[in-house]
Amino acid sequence: MIALAAIGCPTLAAAARVLPAMTEGPFYPSRRWRDAGPFAAGGWDADLTEVGGGVAAARGEHLALALQVADRDGLVVDGAEVEIWQCDALAVYRHPRQPHDQGRFDPGFQGFGAAVTGPDGSVRLRTIRPVPYPGRTPHIHVKLRHPSFGEIASQLFVDRDPGNAGDFLWRRLDDGARRALAMRLQPAPADAPAGLRWMARHRLVVPT
Ligand SMILES: [Fe+2]
Repeated sequence: MIALAAIGCPTLAAAARVLPAMTEGPFYPSRRWRDAGPFAAGGWDADLTEVGGGVAAARGEHLALALQVADRDGLVVDGAEVEIWQCDALAVYRHPRQPHDQGRFDPGFQGFGAAVTGPDGSVRLRTIRPVPYPGRTPHIHVKLRHPSFGEIASQLFVDRDPGNAGDFLWRRLDDGARRALAMRLQPAPADAPAGLRWMARHRLVVPT
């Protein structure tokens, strides 16, 4: 696991309002399936770009993603579960509903990752810059859980992505919701870990 904590991040892009709840879509990998799958023994970690302890590395543009969970008053939430899932660089989800024929998916991409926020309310994930798939603009699904607010599913978009304007879910969002869900990607600095191309830091405001 790469020490993501050592990576400096751009200025926190504070969301203006509570994270809008959005559909989790058809490709959320259930806990039951995950527990029976190839990474059952603790392998569904926060680094989606490595599989099998570094045996395979993900295709695509790697992204260091820091997500901070906070309430409306800016108080951070410690101990929140944060899950993300997205398709791989070939636009295939790691999910039983998706075909995984040889050469038609990326075996180096974990597809799903999870972490628990620390005292600063943040998790540090490593994944790939999301790519479009037929009918959708690039997005990362996210699910949060904590006793104070229950469970929220939503989707994170890439700020200023040209595909957003044509996305049926993005088009339903008002400006405030879009600001709450749009990650601002910054190029990784020259001294970033090998292979890292992008960085983003985004606050997720929850209704506590
Ligand atoms: Fe999706």
